[in-house]
Amino acid sequence: MENRRSPMLELVDIHKSFGDVEVLKGISSSIEKGELLTFVGPSGCGKTTLLRIVGGFTPATSGRVILDGQDISSLPPNMRNTKMVFQSYALFPHMNVRKNIAFGLTLKKWSKTEINKRVDEMLELVHMEGLGERHIDQISGGQQQRVALARALALGPKVLLLDEPLSNLDANLRVVMREEIRKIQEQIGITTIFVTHDQYEAMSISDRLLVLKDGVIQQIGSPVEIYEKPANEFIAGFVGYVNILNGKINERANGSNTFKISTTYGDIEIDSEREDIGDGDEILVVVRPESLSLKKPNSAQKLNGIKGTVLTHMYAGNHSKYSVKVGDKNIVVDQHNPKDSPRYQHNDTVELLIPRNAHILKRQ
Ligand SMILES: Nc1ncnc2c1ncn2[C@@H]1O[C@H](COP(=O)(O)OP(=O)(O)OP(=O)(O)O)[C@@H](O)[C@H]1O
Ligand SMILES: [Mg+2]
Repeated sequence: MENRRSPMLELVDIHKSFGDVEVLKGISSSIEKGELLTFVGPSGCGKTTLLRIVGGFTPATSGRVILDGQDISSLPPNMRNTKMVFQSYALFPHMNVRKNIAFGLTLKKWSKTEINKRVDEMLELVHMEGLGERHIDQISGGQQQRVALARALALGPKVLLLDEPLSNLDANLRVVMREEIRKIQEQIGITTIFVTHDQYEAMSISDRLLVLKDGVIQQIGSPVEIYEKPANEFIAGFVGYVNILNGKINERANGSNTFKISTTYGDIEIDSEREDIGDGDEILVVVRPESLSLKKPNSAQKLNGIKGTVLTHMYAGNHSKYSVKVGDKNIVVDQHNPKDSPRYQHNDTVELLIPRNAHILKRQ
C-alpha cells in the first residue's frame, strides 16, 4: 500500500473522433499503483472507447497513454503490459479451464512446469481449484467470469482493464462477483480500471470514480466526494436521488464560512468552505433525501425550517419515504428508523429541516 502514491498510468489529453464525431474530448487523468478507478457514465459517453485506447485496441486521435513512466501510445495490445477482460469474456470454448488460463503463458513459451504452477496459483486465487479440467460450457457464468479474470492475471500485467465485467450475471451474482473482484484486486494489489454504467456498482467497488458525460470528464473523486460533494447538477443526479432548491447568497458573513441564503421557501443558512461563491450568486442547494428531517410545524427549531405539505408517505419498515410539497417542488425525504420517529399523514403540514452542511453549487 505504501507505494500507492506514484502514478501507474497516466492519460494525457486524449481525444478520439470517429469520422466527424468527437467522442472523447480531452481526457487527462492519472491512476495510482494498486488503485481501482472506475470509468462510469451514461451509455455512449465513451467509457469503452477510452478503455480500448488504454489497452491498445483502438488508436486515439491524439493524446498519450503513459504506463509506469513509459509512453505506450503506439504499442499494440500484446506489447503493453495491460490486460483487458472483455464483456463477453472471449474464452476459448474448445479448451478446458486450465488451457484457457494457460493461453498467454503458452504463447510466451513458459515451460510446462512453470505453466502448471502458475495455473494452480490462478485457480486458487479465483477459487476454482478442482475445476481445471472442465470445459467452458460445463461451468457457470460466474465461474466463466473467474476464468476470464484468472487468464488476464496469469501473466502478471501492470494494469487490469475490465469492461462491464458483471453485465452477463444475474443481480445476486453481480454483487457476489463484485466483492470477489475487489478482494482479488486488493489481495494482489493490481492497478485496475473498471468500466460500468451502473453508478451503484461504481460507488461500491472503486477507490475513485471518473465520471464521463459526452466524452468529457465531469468529476474525478472518491465515492464519498462524488456523492457528498458533486461538482455539478449532472453528477448530483447521477449518483442517487437528490433534491435541488434554487437560492441566492444574501451574505457571506465576513471571514466566516456561513452563507445566508434566500430561497422562495424561506431563508436558510449553510456552512461551507467554498471560496468560489459569494454575495449575490445564484446557487443550488443540493440535499439528499436521507439528509433531510421532518418536524412538526412551529417546533422549537426555527432556523433552516421550510414549510411544506405531505403528499405521500410510504412505510418500508427500516425507513419511510415522504414526498413533501414545498412551493412548486416535490421534496423527497427518507426517514430512517420510522418506529422511533413521528409519523405524518397525507396533507399534514410539516417543516423540513435543511442541514447546515448541505452542499451548494453555483447555478450554471
Ligand atoms: N467503431 C466505432 N465507429 C463509430 N462510432 C463509434 C465506434 N465505437 C464507438 N462509437 C461511438 O462512440 C461513442 C462512445 O461509445 P462507447 O462504446 O465508448 O460508449 P460507452 O460509454 O462504452 O457506452 P455503453 O455504456 O453503452 O457501453 C458512441 O456514440 C458510439 O456510438
Ligand atoms: Mg461500453
